[in-house]
Amino acid sequence: MPDSPILITGGAGFIGSHLAEALLARGERVRVLDNLSTGKRANLPDSERLEIVEGDVGDLAQVQRAVAGCRAVAHLAAVASVQASVEDPLGTHRSNLIGTLNLCEAMRQAGVRRVVFASSAAVYGNHGEGRAIDEDTPKAPLTPYAADKLASEHYLDFYRRQHGLEPAIFRFFNIYGPRQDPSSPYSGVISIFAERARLGLPITVFGDGEQTRDFFYVKDLVALLLQALDTSEPGSEPVNVGLDRATSLNELLATLGDLLGGLPPVSHGPARAGDIRHSRADNRRLLARYRASSVTSLRDGLAALLEAPARS
Ligand SMILES: NC(=O)c1ccc[n+]([C@@H]2O[C@H](COP(=O)([O-])OP(=O)(O)OC[C@H]3O[C@@H](n4cnc5c(N)ncnc54)[C@H](O)[C@@H]3O)[C@@H](O)[C@H]2O)c1
Repeated sequence: MPDSPILITGGAGFIGSHLAEALLARGERVRVLDNLSTGKRANLPDSERLEIVEGDVGDLAQVQRAVAGCRAVAHLAAVASVQASVEDPLGTHRSNLIGTLNLCEAMRQAGVRRVVFASSAAVYGNHGEGRAIDEDTPKAPLTPYAADKLASEHYLDFYRRQHGLEPAIFRFFNIYGPRQDPSSPYSGVISIFAERARLGLPITVFGDGEQTRDFFYVKDLVALLLQALDTSEPGSEPVNVGLDRATSLNELLATLGDLLGGLPPVSHGPARAGDIRHSRADNRRLLARYRASSVTSLRDGLAALLEAPARS
């Protein structure tokens, strides 16, 4: 059914809008289901092949309507803020777990099989800190956000075994790029630093700046999601998405300074309580299953981010 659309839940958000753009660019029809809580219509291009449905994944009837006639689904809708899930576990649960379950049920009923799911490195909690984290690392969800992501993985696996769903589950580490909300717990730091550096505003780093993350450029992620939508065999096990490269915040700032020919004043504040110090993905499964040949370096990704229009 090459003419039937691909549904992107959360398609008006940061990652979803990049995926929508890429699918439209290769001639696909795209349907977006988004409640526009953090996503924006302005993130999406104008296209007659794009249908935007304002609706909630927590509402089964709306999900059923959105799934009807689709070829495959990229399930990205979620309250992506860990902090929001701590403050409102019930509200986020409706989006982050009930939303996944509604989608599984609607797909089963409609006979749609392929779904790509955005899980998170948060499922590992503090386990594996200081080494590359592989997918078999014990799971230790420390927040409602992480618990809902892990439970979503289990529901998707149940629907795979019981009803023939074909989920491709990715555990994203820190995705960054244009249009990211600076308040994102993942790589919001990149948007904040880039924006302030570009405007010449002072920058504050929490702690000594030696904490590290594994940053992955959003367009490289989209290339993986497209492969997962297309592949004949998505595999049943979750796959980490990261570069297996630790970048410290100090290194990040130095690269930004290099690209911009200087930085505004940088000061250091107290470290944030509960912050994980180091997080890095073991990505051997990713490299074995997917083509990740043209991965963007941090320097090139930051350069692209600096060139992109600022978020309105
Ligand atoms: N950005 C990262 O580094 C990262 C890391 C790990 C996992 N993830 C996951 O990737 C997905 C996309 O994240 P993002 O960074 O693009 O965040 P985002 O907030 O930009 O995108 C999430 C989208 O989902 C929508 N949404 C939220 N609740 C909804 C609901 N109940 N019904 C319909 N739409 C709803 C929002 O309006 C938004 O457009 C999320 O599932 C997030 O948990 C992101």
